[in-house]
Amino acid sequence: MKKNITVLPGDGIGLEVVQSAVEVLETIGTIYGHDFAFDYADIGGSAIDKHNDPLPASTIKACKAGDAVLLGAVGGPKWDQLSGDMRPEKGLLRIRKELDLFANLRPVIGFDSLSDSSTLRKEVITGIDLMIVRELTGGLYFGEPRERREENGETIAVDTLIYSRSEIERIIRKGFELAQVRSRRVTSVDKANVLETSRLWREIAEEISTEYPDVALEHMLVDNAAMQLIRDPQYFDVIVTENLFGDILSDEASMLTGSLGMLPSASMSAEGPGLYEPVHGSAPDIAGQDKANPLAAISSASMMLKYAFGLSEEALAVDKAIDQVLNEGFRTGDIAREGEAVKTTSEITQKVIETLRSKL
Ligand code: NAD
Ligand code: IPM
Ligand code: MN
Repeated sequence: MKKNITVLPGDGIGLEVVQSAVEVLETIGTIYGHDFAFDYADIGGSAIDKHNDPLPASTIKACKAGDAVLLGAVGGPKWDQLSGDMRPEKGLLRIRKELDLFANLRPVIGFDSLSDSSTLRKEVITGIDLMIVRELTGGLYFGEPRERREENGETIAVDTLIYSRSEIERIIRKGFELAQVRSRRVTSVDKANVLETSRLWREIAEEISTEYPDVALEHMLVDNAAMQLIRDPQYFDVIVTENLFGDILSDEASMLTGSLGMLPSASMSAEGPGLYEPVHGSAPDIAGQDKANPLAAISSASMMLKYAFGLSEEALAVDKAIDQVLNEGFRTGDIAREGEAVKTTSEITQKVIETLRSKL
């Protein structure tokens, strides 16, 4: 199979973990006889430095021309003082919008070998397997007006939370479709006791649920959901929620696995290339030190194999290699227990590659 992958390393540890994911994809290509071509483009802070734009037109063109996009992370203190449209994060938001990536899948899967790495008790997190389906192109992130103004001698800042019926319908459907091939339970998370957008969300979720009689739907208020995720995470199957709630709940849920450095994601549109990226950011505190956990990025590559290319066997091989590497006690600092040897990003990556090759 021949596939063109657009690679957007971005900033900070994005560069390091993307390198790991590319090496793993190259290995899969060699083992299974696929021809993966990698086309690199700029995004985020590094794009601001080079092109004075966090998402240059050439990057958009490259992404649209390829079969899938692999992204590292954007942002960092160097660009934190820039204004809204010139921030690195705006590059990420714009590419999501350009590619209409409305559905962001964030699987949260616990590895038995990491059950001591979480700050939560072992019995709470054992066997955890849930999927957060985050709406990605609407809500507060994109609503207009968004502005700052002076009013009656005061500075006012405005963001707008807005959702249309069609935006809600398509993400809710995605949640149900995913639940059908999982444990057939959808928890729709909202704030319907306060927000009008959430009341519309809830109404539409009820309507759509009639199309999926084999899937159970329940509604949960987001503040309660944040608590239940920690109290009894095994309760959840598919969580479907709006953009900002999904952002916050997924970082929270990452600690069920032991680290933010373990959580992958896939962002999809109705058609056209999807974008695969770790949930974490550019981690300025550890950037450039070969310390970052590459497994979230490598898992994101596995999601690409599965969802973008339909290569389920190859995806499973990557997932199994990750599992084995963890079982053998190889860990970066974020998941190492006290007294355990800490491996570098490159060492973990090489170990994953060796493990894949040893199955030949
Ligand atoms: P962050 O996710 O970058 O880091 C939070 C904490 O988790 C840090 O202590 C970091 O060291 C740790 N961490 C994250 N990924 C790790 C990994 N792979 N291995 C080991 N440790 C890891 O979040 P932040 O510090 O709030 O944000 C830093 C910058 O990243 C900001 O500019 C922010 O806007 C940006 N950001 C980008 C994305 C993205 O590109 N998708 C996501 C989140 C944050
Ligand atoms: C994420 C990040 C982004 C978001 C930022 C960097 C714009 O936190 O991918 O989770 O909030 O969506
Ligand atoms: Mn986030």
